[in-house]
Amino acid sequence: MIKMTKIYLYLLVPIMFFIEGCSENEPPVKDRWYTPLQISNGASVFKKHCASCHGDEAQGLISDWRQPLSDGSYPPPPLNGNAHAWHHPLSVLKRTIQNGGIPLGGKMPPFNDKLNDEEIKSSIVFFQNKWNDKIYNAWIERGGLK
Ligand code: HEC
Repeated sequence: MIKMTKIYLYLLVPIMFFIEGCSENEPPVKDRWYTPLQISNGASVFKKHCASCHGDEAQGLISDWRQPLSDGSYPPPPLNGNAHAWHHPLSVLKRTIQNGGIPLGGKMPPFNDKLNDEEIKSSIVFFQNKWNDKIYNAWIERGGLK
């Protein structure tokens, strides 16, 4: 009898952990809309597809992102809350990443053929997670979740 219980436990506990790890219902980060899993997925998407222009930590690689280049386009801005990415709601951020900036005279390439919806969302989570609470809350108040 004791032996059976032990076997059940050996089987059940890893299965429970597995299910929990896969859960779509992971609780969000405190006072934010996203989950820890989206942050870690976003870190790898960002590193692979975005960091070369926006910096490893989304800090930007150019000292003055407000200064247009000689061709009139703008350099890649920081996305970590220091520039104005936080003026845009989620839907606009998503569209920017899907379509890139070329249709608007910018230089950012489109990602709709490289990244799926969830990957695009997690890349946003990665840089939003660098925003301090003041910036994040201002974004929410402006209707950021739209
Ligand atoms: C080849 C360089 C390059 C890459 C790679 C790149 N970007 Fe950009 N990004 C830019 C530039 C340049 C701009 C400014 C607008 C423009 O020129 O299109 C920009 C603008 C943005 C904006 C708008 C910011 C604002 O303040 O309005 C967001 C959001 C953004 N990028 C996110 C990303 C994400 C996420 C990735 C990776 C999936 C990425 N970018 C990859 C160059 C790049």
